Amino acid sequence: MKASDPVRTILETERLVLRYQNAADVAPLSALWSDPVVTKFMGGPRDKAWLVAEFGKTARKPRAEKYDLWPLIEKSTGTLVGHIGLLDKDVEGRAEIEIVYVLIKSAWGKGYATEAAGALTRHAFDSLKLDRLIALIDPDNANSERVAERLGMKFEKMTIRPDGEIKKLYSAGKE
Ligand SMILES: CC(C)(COP(=O)(O)OP(=O)(O)OC[C@H]1O[C@@H](n2cnc3c(N)ncnc32)[C@H](O)[C@@H]1OP(=O)(O)O)[C@@H](O)C(=O)NCCC(=O)NCCS
Repeated sequence: MKASDPVRTILETERLVLRYQNAADVAPLSALWSDPVVTKFMGGPRDKAWLVAEFGKTARKPRAEKYDLWPLIEKSTGTLVGHIGLLDKDVEGRAEIEIVYVLIKSAWGKGYATEAAGALTRHAFDSLKLDRLIALIDPDNANSERVAERLGMKFEKMTIRPDGEIKKLYSAGKE
């Protein structure tokens, strides 16, 4: 199956395809979310067996959620290089849509997060007709802040999440 199968593709950029999940993604996604380096600013590594079960469920119903994270595929190799998407969040009582980007360590430093999240931002505003996007970023996660800034997002405020974590809230679109 081609990486850019139109039935499964959410969006395509020069080097990347964002598409719905399938069974072959379960192992690489589970490796991604159990990697201590990748998850350092995202709550730490998740349990591998739990991940395999959860991603197995998503593979069986890949379109169950409107807002979700989706596998990001490198076109030149067909490799899963990340998990990127939109999640609905409550932030201090306001309903928000967060853009989330998570790449395997070997794919950092190539501009992939900015390329994919930039296309997803345009898709969110132009096709999904959202009027605002946010990013919730750990104050020590400089790589993620640089991505948000390259996407044109602006630092809005500090916020405390329900688990007590302090995050920087970046936003684009409506105040
Ligand atoms: C956050 C994260 C996605 C950022 O990855 P990244 O590789 O730094 O960001 P990009 O993919 O946009 O790549 C940009 C870098 O690639 C470099 N680059 C190299 N070749 C490039 C190219 N052809 N085009 C664009 N940039 C390129 C840029 O100079 C830039 O480096 P710099 O930030 O040192 O200036 C990554 O660190 C990650 O997955 N972290 C773990 C998960 C996480 O914390 N996610 C954020 C949650 S809020």
